[in-house]
Amino acid sequence: MRATVKEHIARLKAYVPGLQPDEGERVLKLNTNENPYPPSPWVEEAVREESSDTLRLYPNPTSRRLRETAGSVYRIAPERILCGNGSDEILGILLRTFTTRGDAIGYYEPSYSYYRTLGAIHDLEMVPTPLGNDPLDPPLPDGQGLKLFFLTNPNSPMGFALEPEFVANLANHLEGILVVDEAYADFSRTNCLSLVQEVPNVIVTRTLSKSYSLAGLRVGFAFGDERWIEQMDKVRDHYNLNRVAQAAACVALCDQSHFHDNRDRILKTRERFNRALEQMGIETFPSEANFVFARFGSARTASQIFEKLTERGIYVRYFPQDGLDQGLRISIGTDDEMDRLLEELEDLV
Ligand SMILES: Cc1ncc(COP(=O)(O)O)c(C=O)c1O
Repeated sequence: MRATVKEHIARLKAYVPGLQPDEGERVLKLNTNENPYPPSPWVEEAVREESSDTLRLYPNPTSRRLRETAGSVYRIAPERILCGNGSDEILGILLRTFTTRGDAIGYYEPSYSYYRTLGAIHDLEMVPTPLGNDPLDPPLPDGQGLKLFFLTNPNSPMGFALEPEFVANLANHLEGILVVDEAYADFSRTNCLSLVQEVPNVIVTRTLSKSYSLAGLRVGFAFGDERWIEQMDKVRDHYNLNRVAQAAACVALCDQSHFHDNRDRILKTRERFNRALEQMGIETFPSEANFVFARFGSARTASQIFEKLTERGIYVRYFPQDGLDQGLRISIGTDDEMDRLLEELEDLV
């Protein structure tokens, strides 16, 4: 046999997602920013309806009804929307559409580390821009020659959000496309969706994984100028969203009252949790997302607390890298879940 793997793939370090418990293992899971509340009850009904005779048939190839529904919820023409298997798939489609081997892509550091993995998969040059001392006023990257620049807004893992004026300015500064990854925007005061209609090189991505409690369904969107969406549409798998996902995502989006109630509960818990951390003398970053980045003063303390919490069946996220290693990213769960974590933290800190 003479089969060989591409050299850069053999060298690649795969993306490591947050720890997932084994089937049946009972843990308090606050490490991957899932929603602690169930999705709209309409979702269960839609899933049940789809699992009969219809599953032997392929789904609608362009997710037509879902794009129309998303169009009316997000107030944007369906022609400007692309659906993906989670927003992670959308990020991959962006790279496949806009870059060729050796091209350069940029992103702020720290932000969502999957951009780096995707860049490595596609053998691209990665140009990170450090957020600097004041993450709320980061330096502009050297915009020349970057095919894509990824902005996680709100930032993950830190949680802060940059204002649309900054984002528009950043887009104007770049030669290529600015991808605003708004996975957490539903938990934020601001978002950049309207920029898609105003600034031609802005593409916004969203997901139903967090704010709609549908991480297991895998549904995400790209919103952008029709000329970009048209090209990205050629690149995606032709039946990328399955029938169940399309049907369930439609009803979840339609149930806006469930969505708002759910989100408001999480925002209240976030404020309560933040105050409790403050009272314990633990610093946090102002969060516009469904998680909080808590800082413990040293990498040693943060990693020890992480280990101890994991031993006690509480999963949070630790990033052992410069700028992040002194803190833990903690997803917002229910009030009871956060109380349990606070009790353990009080014991450990
Ligand atoms: C910043 C950011 N973007 C994108 C994603 C991917 O979300 P999904 O593929 O579930 O839509 C995540 C998931 O955690 C994320 O944190």
